[in-house]
Amino acid sequence: MKVAVVGATGLVGTKMLQVLTERNFPVTELLPVASARSVGKEIDFKGKKFKVVSMEDAIAAKPDVALFSAGGGTSLEWAPKFAEAGITVIDNSSAWRMDPAKKLVVPEVNAEVLTKEDKIIANPNCSTIQMVVALQPLHKKYKITRVVVSTYQSVTGTGVKAVEQLMNERKNLEGPMAYKYPIDLNVIPQIDVFLENGYTKEEMKMVNETRKIMQDDSIRLTSTTVRIPVMGGHSESVNVEFENDFDLDEVRQLLSDSPGITLQDNIQEQIYPMPLWAHEKDDVFVGRLRRDESQENTLNMWIVSDNLRKGAATNAVQIAEYLIANNLLS
Ligand SMILES: NC(=O)c1ccc[n+]([C@@H]2O[C@H](COP(=O)([O-])OP(=O)(O)OC[C@H]3O[C@@H](n4cnc5c(N)ncnc54)[C@H](OP(=O)(O)O)[C@@H]3O)[C@@H](O)[C@H]2O)c1
Repeated sequence: MKVAVVGATGLVGTKMLQVLTERNFPVTELLPVASARSVGKEIDFKGKKFKVVSMEDAIAAKPDVALFSAGGGTSLEWAPKFAEAGITVIDNSSAWRMDPAKKLVVPEVNAEVLTKEDKIIANPNCSTIQMVVALQPLHKKYKITRVVVSTYQSVTGTGVKAVEQLMNERKNLEGPMAYKYPIDLNVIPQIDVFLENGYTKEEMKMVNETRKIMQDDSIRLTSTTVRIPVMGGHSESVNVEFENDFDLDEVRQLLSDSPGITLQDNIQEQIYPMPLWAHEKDDVFVGRLRRDESQENTLNMWIVSDNLRKGAATNAVQIAEYLIANNLLS
């Protein structure tokens, strides 16, 4: 496979290169792509140096697949040009996610929607990916009617500049601000811009993307997304109401039997998911399972995952692996 990684110098792109290596993805030729600022810079992949190339040169080299993580604007402009050249694009930005003609895919949930004709495939938002991996097996069994989610999101979800802001603040250094406010020793209840309904774009992504991936518009969902000074992954407190009643032990069994999920639910030993443990892992970690005693058929759960891996790079590479395994790349 000739593989282009667009945004190869960024946080997600760098993780993409790491995940491709770890999973032994069959890369025969790598084309790292970034902005004009980075063309000619060298990046490491599998112990070799590769020069960053421009978008135009990447298209001319006709890769089989292009993994995009270079922002929505870049994707809107360039993904169609790659697709026109017959290159399958898997895009990490929000540019194509809600386009009715584009598939939005989490392989554990809906990989079967993919066909050979899909030339631009969207990778969902990081907070949505980890939540739907945990919700899907429960939805199949008990039918979800409503979800209330609050997130505690890592600064790595914002990109390189946000990590620098946090680290500078820790060292009392001046530097560029990714957020309007200090993030160290703070909690910011705003991720992305505000919309007319008073929600942020990130909150509405969770609502709309969940319904699209789970292929069920009847699920009611409300979300509060929050940035915290953490690095290893995003955490979520999720309250789920089902049509049918459930048994807690059966819920634990269903989750631990599901692909991509690790159950960490042992309160006697104080074992529960944390970003510290999820960091650099591909799974979605689920714990703190308990009945909501204020309402029937309702479960509380705590979901943590490394947003740069399952929330971005790993999910994109898994989509590419599925395309190869099912002969859907042409
Ligand atoms: N961080 C996450 O958890 C996460 C999760 C899911 C999705 N995403 C999405 O992934 C994308 C990248 O996020 P990130 O966190 O990796 O950001 P980042 O660290 O700021 O990296 C951005 C990357 O995009 C490249 N780029 C910027 N403008 C470009 C242009 N005009 N043409 C070509 N390349 C360009 C940059 O290249 P230069 O180095 O040359 O500037 C860099 O490689 C965003 O769309 C984001 O929404 C992020």
